[in-house]
Amino acid sequence: MDEDEFYRVLRVVGIVLRIFVFVTFAFSAIIFISKVIRFERCSIPTVNCHPILFYFSALLSLYKQSRPEVPPLCLILLGITGVCRIAAKQKLFCIYVLFKPFIIFFKPETVEVLLSSTTLIDKSKEYELLSPWLGTGLLTSTGKKWRRRRKLLTPAFHFSILDEFIPVFQEQSSILVSKLQYLVHEPWVDVVPLMTACTLDIICQTAMGVNIDAQGGRNTEYVRAVHEIGESFMYRVLRPWLYPNFIFKWTAYGRRFYDNLRRVQSLTKRVIKHKRQDMEAREEYAVIEPFSNHSPSQRKKRKAFLELLLEHHLKDPSFTEEDVSEEVHTFMFEGHDTTAMALSWALYCLGQNPEIQQRVQEELDDIFDDDIDRDIEREDLTRMKYLECVIKETLRLYPSVPFIARECKNSFTVLNHKVPPHSLCLILTCELHQDPESFPEPEKFIPERFFPENSKGRHPYAYVPFSAGPRNCIGQKFAMMEEKIVLANILRKFRVTSLDPRDEVLVTPNLTTKNVKPLRLRFEPRSIQCTWLFVKDNFDV
Ligand code: HEM
Repeated sequence: MDEDEFYRVLRVVGIVLRIFVFVTFAFSAIIFISKVIRFERCSIPTVNCHPILFYFSALLSLYKQSRPEVPPLCLILLGITGVCRIAAKQKLFCIYVLFKPFIIFFKPETVEVLLSSTTLIDKSKEYELLSPWLGTGLLTSTGKKWRRRRKLLTPAFHFSILDEFIPVFQEQSSILVSKLQYLVHEPWVDVVPLMTACTLDIICQTAMGVNIDAQGGRNTEYVRAVHEIGESFMYRVLRPWLYPNFIFKWTAYGRRFYDNLRRVQSLTKRVIKHKRQDMEAREEYAVIEPFSNHSPSQRKKRKAFLELLLEHHLKDPSFTEEDVSEEVHTFMFEGHDTTAMALSWALYCLGQNPEIQQRVQEELDDIFDDDIDRDIEREDLTRMKYLECVIKETLRLYPSVPFIARECKNSFTVLNHKVPPHSLCLILTCELHQDPESFPEPEKFIPERFFPENSKGRHPYAYVPFSAGPRNCIGQKFAMMEEKIVLANILRKFRVTSLDPRDEVLVTPNLTTKNVKPLRLRFEPRSIQCTWLFVKDNFDV
């Protein structure tokens, strides 16, 4: 290429670039102007403070980002809950982010309007950031697809089917207990990684029928990948300029996100393929109706959730293998982090309140007749009434899902205010659960609040750790059973002490309600009988 030709090419490239920049600018300007013209100010009171104050606090939180001990999400949560208290009388408020109204719900009567609706079921746009991983599974899908899936999957969480998972809960919590036995001499342990490994093993075994042995330290790559996917998601949520995939995938976080995704997906793909071949060879899917409500005795053997999904796929090819894997990923995601945090916070609260812990242990001793080794059975669970109140009170103070977001396609009315279409409605569960009208002395840990006689007259939407209405948590019974079994097995053998008081434990809404610093707990054997056990076990090793 001679010099003239080179400059000609350069000129053409320059012109193309200029046209591209001009078109992009013109397009953005048109969108901006059309938004200004169509902008409809809603009648919901906005925060009664000068906007500059608001932006100043946002800037401050960005500045604080450089201080790792206080994550920006933690500050944002503190800021918004502070505003909720200022706006307590008006019962809801609105913040404009550019031209988009964010309506904040934190009182039972307004939360009811949103959650009980059969039309306000669309998740907010932010959930789409999870779609490379979860596709449009039950958590993220909407409309007809969501309705069909919900109908299909609901029977898989019937009590009779959940009962068959009790041995898995039992087996994995026994492994956890034996790990704790070796930690009794430690001054403290961070419980969160221990609980996460346990709940991950439980969900993998129940959802996919495979044991990834996270508790034994195997498949650490997979465990780390799941954890880092969550981190990358939260990093992206706070940075709207990273929302377009083509930008995000070039960033370091984006590259890590997609690498981790490949790792997680390759494991599930392998498992699905293996299970499918196995089932086809045995022609097992022809025998049992998918998700039938057969009692355990009528069913041939315990079916993992994946086997149930594959049965459906093999019978109805319109339910594709992609559909199977997006549901498996959804349940893996929703089914382990939420329960791991709920268990960790429950142990933390019990470690802070020794007299409540003792009451739980008395209830357990009564149920098991002081036999600390007997496996837990279905009937035992119904007798763990006080433990159930402890779990509920923990989820009140530390709801695993700190907020629930909905995007409304059409306008609707709440407390005589019209919410404009395409508003983002945000339920702050953590603030709702702190309402002194529903929960007097809200900052105190009082499981007795959930005794039937004390719950009378409380607004049904004052307490929604599992959400409520048509899009409530499909796994709530699963979670309650799992929590009861894991906690009961720990508390039968150990006395737990929390080292840090509540006001020193920073909390951040990082997908789930997470601790910022390690959650430091000490485990001690409960009785002489237990001490003997530990000495013997240590000797064997
Ligand atoms: C303590 C444990 C748990 C808590 C606090 C919890 C809480 C929630 C909440 C608040 C929602 C609504 C989310 C939203 O609307 O954005 C939800 C939905 C969901 N949860 Fe859970 N969850 C827990 C455990 C589980 C488990 C163990 C599973 C599965 C085995 C599960 C599966 C799901 C699914 C699939 C959805 C989406 C349901 C739908 O949209 O139809 N969850 N959960």
